[in-house]
Amino acid sequence: MLQFDIVTIFPEIFVSYFSESIIKRAVKNNLIKIKIHNLRNWSQGVHKQVDDRPYGGGPGMILMMEPIAKALEAITVNRLPLTANKKKTVNSKRLPVSRIIMLTPAGKKFNQREAERLAKYDQLILLCGRYEGFDARVDKLVDEKISIGDYVLAGGELPAMVVLEAVARQVKGVVGHDHALAEETFSKGLDYIEYPQYTRPEIVEIRNQKSEIRKLRVPKILLSGNHAKIKKWRGKMSNKAR
Ligand code: ADE
Repeated sequence: MLQFDIVTIFPEIFVSYFSESIIKRAVKNNLIKIKIHNLRNWSQGVHKQVDDRPYGGGPGMILMMEPIAKALEAITVNRLPLTANKKKTVNSKRLPVSRIIMLTPAGKKFNQREAERLAKYDQLILLCGRYEGFDARVDKLVDEKISIGDYVLAGGELPAMVVLEAVARQVKGVVGHDHALAEETFSKGLDYIEYPQYTRPEIVEIRNQKSEIRKLRVPKILLSGNHAKIKKWRGKMSNKAR
């Protein structure tokens, strides 16, 4: 079972999201496991310090290396690379493989392909930064760095949630219905539907900016019951979306 370990100084951030979304169901059905770790558990001293000022001066605070090193050591199951680990078996069972990931705007851009790749691991450790960043030596402790986009957020917590959800959706059974198996989009390697979809009612009335009433209708073809034609139309509309 794929296990996510999140290392953060704000563990509470994750509680409500993971207890409401499809993630909740996935955990309940034992499809994935999530552990949230407070970095302060590995800090030293009465002040539970995890950050300090940068050497050489400058604004803000930097996450210290030592608590992170201790946390990762305690959490990581087995850090061998996937390939090297293939042959490693104990009682003919393959050893689990961990991947340590730092969330940072300086990382490699995350996308659907990356989500598919990461879903192959057994344990994903998501390290969330805050403040002005990590002590640069933390680089030596991680396998890769991931960014969810070219913008700077206050910390790695939202990115960790984004990565977790996108990866978890790749785990069999997490997405309820067997996702769009026969759909055009699926065969293109995308797991979302690109053609426009409609539900009841057939006609919706809205007022435009001139306060005139406009009727918005469901395309007739979708009401036709002709599945061959609908399929063709959806294909055409998907291509349009690209
Ligand atoms: N931390 C702050 N901004 C981030 C981003 N865009 N991606 C990943 N981690 C981040």
